[in-house]
Amino acid sequence: MNEQRLSLYKVMKAEVEDELLHGMKVANLAFLLAKRVGFSYERSRELAIAGFLHDLGKLQVAHTAYEQGKEVLEVEEMVRRRSHVKIGYDILMRYDYSDFILESILYHHENYDGSGYPRNLVATDIPSGARVLRIVNMFVALVSDRPYRKAFDKETAIELMIDEVKNFDMRYFLAFIKMIHEIDIDKVIDFPKLEVDLWDKSDNLL
Ligand SMILES: [Fe+2]
Repeated sequence: MNEQRLSLYKVMKAEVEDELLHGMKVANLAFLLAKRVGFSYERSRELAIAGFLHDLGKLQVAHTAYEQGKEVLEVEEMVRRRSHVKIGYDILMRYDYSDFILESILYHHENYDGSGYPRNLVATDIPSGARVLRIVNMFVALVSDRPYRKAFDKETAIELMIDEVKNFDMRYFLAFIKMIHEIDIDKVIDFPKLEVDLWDKSDNLL
């Protein structure tokens, strides 16, 4: 492997690892929030799977960008980035995932006020699983290190989310804030494991 290819490989490997870690954190929090807002155990478990796989399309998008290795306009970059929801959906469509999982993934960037993508869906037209993922995904992104900034602490993350509250289902968001203050969030965030099957299988609140 020549040097350029090796460094490309390292960047892509790091990106895959970051995505998997992000997916695990989102899966765990999505499972917990889904249960709190009244999803059944089975639905919550399905949402954990959707949470784990929700950004699968990003890996393909990143791969394309690295291969092309070209400068792109800002708007092209935005379209490329946004395409990850449909790409992930199309990949997973070929497998035996439920419509609930597929729709949660396809619409996880829809905003409650209709300003999201890919379809500008509004309020409860957005599937319930996607509304949960929208909240959890943003929180996990904010409390994680990014190449361009350090992680925010959870209080700051919540404040930043309150500024963006138009994006969220308010009932779910309030339940999320309550949950963040009640659970050991650091355990979920810092040591993520996919262990939903070990959790309470009844429909009782965790
Ligand atoms: Fe995404």
